[in-house]
Amino acid sequence: MMHFDPSKIEVLYSEKDLERIVERLASEINAYYTPITDEITAVCILKGSVHFYSDLLKRINLKVRYNFVHVSSYSGSSTTGRIRVKTWVDESVTDKYVLLVEDIVDTGGTLRYIINYIWKQKPAGVKLVSLFEKTIHEHGVKIDFTGDRIGDLFVVGYGLDFDEVYRNLPYVGYLKSDL
Ligand code: XMP
Ligand code: MG
Repeated sequence: MMHFDPSKIEVLYSEKDLERIVERLASEINAYYTPITDEITAVCILKGSVHFYSDLLKRINLKVRYNFVHVSSYSGSSTTGRIRVKTWVDESVTDKYVLLVEDIVDTGGTLRYIINYIWKQKPAGVKLVSLFEKTIHEHGVKIDFTGDRIGDLFVVGYGLDFDEVYRNLPYVGYLKSDL
């Protein structure tokens, strides 16, 4: 059982750092969509993206339809490689401009799976935004809007968890005892 002990977290991104990243991403996304459409469908990839999704969309100057998908591939701090689907998008994205909102991309396996599913519904377009990107994506996933690149560190906070703990931290860091 993992305990909640923020003193074990080495802060990498403060609340202020995250806010600056989110603001920059929102202005890139606004600039991209404004000439194309006045409405997007933003898909929150649960659970890790929840704070990022909420903070990002508050800064989007378009109509935004909210949608949620719940997928997981991790157990503890390592990927199981098996993607488990818990909830899929609840309304059709046919002819919609879809923005997939992810917290962190590692191998790209999770996003690849979701993208394949979404394309089957013939959306008008699909773009990806991720707060963080790790190393190289084996699954050929290209992130359109990236917050920051991080090394091969397992990070927690701002939605990211270790066995469901630390999601509620307002900053992002790594577990010192995990190294
Ligand atoms: P893949 O390999 O599918 O992995 O791109 C992406 C998914 O794994 C989760 N993930 C993390 N979660 N801290 C976390 O809390 C991390 O450092 C981390 N790295 C990957 C993430 O939720 C994403 O959906
Ligand atoms: Mg996740």
